[in-house]
Order: sequence, then structure tokens, then C-alpha cells
Amino acid sequence: MDIAKACEAFRVLLEEQQARIANANEEKKDFSNMDAITVGIIDGDGIGPLIMAQAKKVLKMLLADEIADGRIILKDIQGLTIENRLALGKPVPEEVLAEIKSCDVLLKGPTTTPMGGTMESANVTLRRELDLYANVRPVSIPEEGIDWIFYRENTEGEYVLGSRGISLPGMAVDFKVTTDFGTRRIAKAAFDYAKNNGKTRVSIVTKANIMKKTDGKFTEICHQIAENYPGIAVDDWYIDIMTANLVNPAIRGGFQVVVLPNLYGDIITDEAAQLQGGVGSAGSANIGDRYAMFEAIHGSAPRMLAEGLQDYVNPSSILRATVMLLRHICRQDAALRLEKALDACTVNVTGDATGATCEEFIRQLLTLL
Ligand code: IPM
Ligand code: MG
Repeated sequence: MDIAKACEAFRVLLEEQQARIANANEEKKDFSNMDAITVGIIDGDGIGPLIMAQAKKVLKMLLADEIADGRIILKDIQGLTIENRLALGKPVPEEVLAEIKSCDVLLKGPTTTPMGGTMESANVTLRRELDLYANVRPVSIPEEGIDWIFYRENTEGEYVLGSRGISLPGMAVDFKVTTDFGTRRIAKAAFDYAKNNGKTRVSIVTKANIMKKTDGKFTEICHQIAENYPGIAVDDWYIDIMTANLVNPAIRGGFQVVVLPNLYGDIITDEAAQLQGGVGSAGSANIGDRYAMFEAIHGSAPRMLAEGLQDYVNPSSILRATVMLLRHICRQDAALRLEKALDACTVNVTGDATGATCEEFIRQLLTLL
């Protein structure tokens, strides 16, 4: 590719992003007054089907009455496997996407992302296609008084054009995009959560000293939004020191709500989950105004299958995501039942043969429900 062609490719990207801004639509779905809610169930690949089987079992138990009378519909969605995606050359094949869009919310097992190449991650495609702009990841360590919730921007930043970078002889360029509306809506989601849940502090995390345009905008807009929330304190951190803060016992207990751009949020939420008990322990919600998708924070763990560790998969993360799904669709009682059972479960699954099996975990969990 020569420079003229690269500029042309860049022009197309800029036009597409401008069109995305122009088409932004902020109408919200209200789950409290719907006659029937369709929950799409996507198994994913790798360890996905193993942990999803447990999540389905739990959902069917908790929502038995509403499933029986049709107020909740569990809909299995096939075809989001790595084999099918590679065979069709599509991160999310059209017919699968159409099925997904016929649902209201989704519970999704992990999907493998091929490294390199040009195939986009199915997660990234779904987050974009369903406009799931808030990636919400709670982490709690009660014995240390830690109760964090991360509001990671989920549709732009480093991800929106992550598969559309440009290569020139001897160099490569990727793009990061931050929009006003994209930042406003994630900031608003974070501050609304703080306000509605008695939180008194929101921390904004960027690298605005280096990424001056994009992170500079992110910081500025978060502060503008903060002005509408007078009771809530706001502070700014750079991502590097924030990763240190999370392992600094002297200050980490003070963080409450954290709002941050996409890639920083991706990285730091794995760190936070690890502090809580491993990436197998944390749930993740992808929330948009129309759709929402709930998933484990971790990936498809092909290594576990290759090493014959299938019996030791940890279903906690997808079950924590299930709690978030139930809350999102206003099934507070079922959410609380599952959350309490998860908190009370003493079976320790570590992801390898040193710990308990998935089966042992579920057996105890079901007795606690
Ligand atoms: C996550 C994952 C995804 C991401 C991958 C699977 C594309 O790491 O949900 O945090 O990078 O966002
Ligand atoms: Mg991640």
C-alpha cells in the first residue's frame, strides 16, 4: 500500500465514524413492563458449552414458573462456534446475528478470537452491532472492604477500528477513536450507577498525558457529566499508576466506581478479577440501550481442554454474569437468590486438578439456591 492509498483508506474510516455519530440513537428499552422477554443462550466454544450448561440449568431452576407460562423464553442460538465462524469467514455470520437480534438479552459463553489475521473478535462485532456501549464489571473482596465496579467504554477507543489498521512498507498504524456521544453515554452510565447505588466517588482513568486528543476528550467530557452529580466526588488517574493502585492495600479500598476507555478497561478488569479470585470468578455485562449481553470475563480457555482439564472448569464467572442478567431484566428476587448462593458456596474450583470439579461446585450450589 502506498501513502495515497493509505490516505484513501483513512478517509473511508473517518467517514464511517462520522456516520456512526450521526446515527447515534439513545432510546432505552424498559424491561419492567414487557409481557415476554427472550433470553438468547449462546454456548460459544472451548470451555463455553461446559460452563453454559451449568448456567442454563440454574436459569431454568430460578425462572421455572415464568418459563412455563411464557413470560421468559430461553432461546438457544447455534452457530457462534470458532469452526463455523472460520468456515464462513465471518466473526458473526449474518443468520446468527439475525437470531441474536431477535432476543432482548443474551447470555454468552466465551468465543475464541483468532490471533493476528483480519478476522475480528466475535465479542467486538457483537458489542458494535448491538451497540453495547457499557462494559460493567464488578469486583468485590468483602474481607478487605473492596467493592469496585468498572464502567469500561465498550464500543470505541482502540477497538472500533482494531481490525482496520493500515500497513505501509516497514510500518503499521492502528487507530483509536473517541467520540463525544460515546464518552457522554459511558460517563452518564457510571455516574447514574453511583447515584442510584449510594456510591460517593467516581474515578476517571486514562492516559491523557500521552493520548492527548482521545483520552483528553474522554477526561474532559467525564468532568462535564460529573457536574450534574453534585454529591459525587471525582478524581483522575493515569492507567499505569492505577494498575499499581489496585495492588496497593493502603489506597485500593477507597475506589468505588471507575470509568475508563476500552483497552485500559479490558486490561485492568482482568487484574481486578485476579485479585478477587481469578478471572474465573468475575462476571461481565455489556449493556446498550436496546440489547444487553452477559458473559464471563475470561476467554474460551482452549489450553484447559488441550490439557484434559475439562472437569475443572469454573462456572462462577458465567454465573455471576447470570446474576447481572437477572437484575437487568428486573428479576431482583432470582438475582439475589443466585448471588447469595454463589457467595455461600464453599467449593473451591481453581481451574486445575488442585481444586474441586465444576460438578462438585454445582452440586453444592444447587442445594443453596
Ligand atoms: C474481554 C475480552 C475481549 C476483549 C476479547 C475476547 C476480544 O478480553 O471481554 O475483556 O478484549 O474485550
Ligand atoms: Mg479482556
